[in-house]
Amino acid sequence: MEYLCSEKLVKEYERRGKTFRAVDDVDIQINKGEFIIITGESGSGKTTLLNLLLGLTKPESGTVLFDGEDISTFDDKRLSEIRNEKIKYIPQGDSLLTSLTVRENILFPYVIGGKEEPPKERLIELAEKLGITDLLDVYPSELSGGEMRRVTIARAVINKPAVIIADEPTGNLDRDNTSKVMEIFKDISGEGTAVVVVTHQRETLDYASKVLNMSHGRLAPENR
Ligand SMILES: Nc1ncnc2c1ncn2[C@@H]1O[C@H](COP(=O)(O)OP(=O)(O)OP(=O)(O)O)[C@@H](O)[C@H]1O
Ligand SMILES: [Mg+2]
Repeated sequence: MEYLCSEKLVKEYERRGKTFRAVDDVDIQINKGEFIIITGESGSGKTTLLNLLLGLTKPESGTVLFDGEDISTFDDKRLSEIRNEKIKYIPQGDSLLTSLTVRENILFPYVIGGKEEPPKERLIELAEKLGITDLLDVYPSELSGGEMRRVTIARAVINKPAVIIADEPTGNLDRDNTSKVMEIFKDISGEGTAVVVVTHQRETLDYASKVLNMSHGRLAPENR
């Protein structure tokens, strides 16, 4: 089953009076259980593409379909519901809520949703795997950059969403923690979640079921 896909997606930006295509005619299919890695040089349009897939940026032309529906027809409420429950985004940089503890950040979808009981055992298991057990009751301001990343990853995978989209999730992690995070992504893709990871770390490519390369706004299968 196809969760998320784009057709002929174009995003233009202007710089010094000149228009250029940051994302140029991109078709991507993200299927259930797939683990896609996107590589590409800095400035090639990777983050722009992810923002389009999440409905955070509007394309000049082309469509993004989630579960067969055109996301440009969704209102803000529907889009934010989807981003809370179905399509989890791990943005480049930090995104933890500073007034909440690590535990509250990870369980945030449950805190605001209020529908389901927080999965306590899964939290303990994830925290253990990511080496953040002792940090659950501290605030983000007391964490290192790599610790924040690991908390962000726990928050994204806690409810087994349909899709996880992660922009350089292991950028500031050491080799050991990078492997742990990639293992978690691989496990969750084995349970049906589609995972899309943007990375510059070529040693992680073997985790992917598909590797794509972005160059000057165009996306193509990577020759390996
Ligand atoms: N809001 C914006 N306005 C104008 N140009 C932008 C804007 N956002 C990004 N760009 C430009 O669009 C191009 C693609 O940027 P993008 O952030 O998608 O690259 P990237 O592949 O994610 O790079 P990196 O690996 O460095 O994160 C770059 O040339 C960037 O300078
Ligand atoms: Mg980027």
